[in-house]
Amino acid sequence: MSNQIFQGLNFQLSEEHLAVQQAARDFAQTELLPEVIDRDEKEFFPEELVRKMGEMGFLGMMVSPEYGGGGMDTVSYVLAMEELSKVDASASVMVSVNNSLVCYGLEAYGTEEQKQKYLVPLAKGEIIGAFALSEPEAGSDATSQHTTAEDMGDYYLLNGTKNWITNGGRASVYLVMAQTHPELGHKGINCLIVERGMEGFQIGKKERKLGIRGSDTHSLMFTDVKVPKENRIGADGFGFKFAMSTLNGGRIGIAAQALGIASGAYELSLKYAQERKTFGKAIAEHQAIQFKLADMATSIEAARLLCFKAAFDKDQHRSYVQSAAMAKLFCSQVAMDTTIEAVQIHGGYGFVKEFHVERMMRDAKITQIYEGTSEIQKMVIAREILK
Ligand code: CAA
Repeated sequence: MSNQIFQGLNFQLSEEHLAVQQAARDFAQTELLPEVIDRDEKEFFPEELVRKMGEMGFLGMMVSPEYGGGGMDTVSYVLAMEELSKVDASASVMVSVNNSLVCYGLEAYGTEEQKQKYLVPLAKGEIIGAFALSEPEAGSDATSQHTTAEDMGDYYLLNGTKNWITNGGRASVYLVMAQTHPELGHKGINCLIVERGMEGFQIGKKERKLGIRGSDTHSLMFTDVKVPKENRIGADGFGFKFAMSTLNGGRIGIAAQALGIASGAYELSLKYAQERKTFGKAIAEHQAIQFKLADMATSIEAARLLCFKAAFDKDQHRSYVQSAAMAKLFCSQVAMDTTIEAVQIHGGYGFVKEFHVERMMRDAKITQIYEGTSEIQKMVIAREILK
């Protein structure tokens, strides 16, 4: 298998890839960095900044130009996600959900009408989307959907509650998974496109979180919401497969987010270690710190390779279920380990907000939870290995 993987791989980014990386790096430094501490503290992300991310093309990077997107490959997306996440993981989760879950899902499985109506404004960044799978009693166990979509002929009657929905408060379009045929289990689930403002659709409370506090996470409530039949994605009962297939790509986005958090914390630690002096020399000259920096750099490099491998598999139209799960599992662990060490290297400064690494440590944790916990990634990997 490794021969196949490494054939022709030269570890060189193309000019186009480097340009995307640079654009994301510049945007992160000039637009995201200045107020990032404030946004975390106030649990707020201004519309103006979302609009700018849209204008830069970050919200529909991989959508084909025909539908208003950037037509880029997954490697470009990973590069941009890493750069944005180095500075602000709250901003990058918006980018990830809109690209990987909402736009990808619509482009891959939507009808032409659905693409024209919803995908085009989403890809242009004129509106934001959300992906609603999780429920109060269906997180990891995503097949046990309690939200129902009763078939009423020319519409579905949607009832239920969704939890922990990223972009929940600011989205205009929601991809909502709901059970239509309970007797069929996961084969009875549908995905419906629900618009903000549909009668009976209420945005619930905003969650107060440990990390990614700038991104808005809400519960959603549906009471007898009439969703037209033409808003169903795919054939009757395709909803669970739709969610799983879409999440495979989502996991590459979150792996890249975790990679970015880790490399952001590492870069700050490296700089700090060269500037901060103790016992008459820069702390980078102490072996205890050198060992930490070496471990961080090595694990980040390994994480980056896994992340690009998954992106490359997707771009080559190979199966990426396993590589995406491996990338997410490993990158999120590296994000957690690296940010903890980053705080340690910074000592007392690491514990206060001005030095960023405490926020990164808090942000890192969610990458081990959303779009499937680490335990779910291990299940997915094991099932692929044992197939
Ligand atoms: N890709 C494609 N299809 C998949 C799949 C995958 N990764 N995983 C499962 N499927 C398919 C199976 O092939 C099966 O189809 P058939 O019946 O046709 O054979 C069907 O889905 C059911 O699969 P399982 O029998 O394996 O179902 P399960 O209940 O045993 O386990 C699971 C499935 C992998 C644990 C799944 O429930 C899962 O991934 N859970 C985690 C859910 C998750 O990631 N939630 C994240 C919420 S979204 C989010 O976090 C976004 C955000 O806000 C940032």
